[in-house]
Amino acid sequence: MACILVLNGPNLNLLGSREPDQYGHRTLQEIMEDLTRFGGACGHEILHVQENSEGVLVEAVHKAAADSVDYIIINPAAYTHTSVALRDALLAVRIPFIEVHLSAMANREPFRQISYFSDIAMGVITGFKGESYMLALQAIINHIEP
Ligand code: DQA
Repeated sequence: MACILVLNGPNLNLLGSREPDQYGHRTLQEIMEDLTRFGGACGHEILHVQENSEGVLVEAVHKAAADSVDYIIINPAAYTHTSVALRDALLAVRIPFIEVHLSAMANREPFRQISYFSDIAMGVITGFKGESYMLALQAIINHIEP
């Protein structure tokens, strides 16, 4: 059994009502319930944290190491494009992670083309709205049981 932490950054608590053309109609709670159910059915523990502040997200990464989390699925949201602190936290704890985005970043503003995480991630999944998280979980499960 693996322990997988799903870490969500700022404004993702507003999913469902926030720019549905970009991010879909499902709430974060609905997405996480599906993920927890599927992960549990496959024998894995899914933990979820959503925070709006950068420092609290950094501390959640530190706690993940203390809690022996095996993998992280992270949507850093706007911090994707700015956060050296969160990148350094992930480098420090060395927990393998997948970077996830709901929207198709390649079709959006130029500043969204820059990620502080992609080059150190196991992989990046972008553009499948809420389904992006499920694809990331499936990739981790395949990694555990090739
Ligand atoms: C996002 C894309 C980011 O550019 C944006 O700031 C978000 C969400 C996504 O999931 O598509 O908040 O990470």
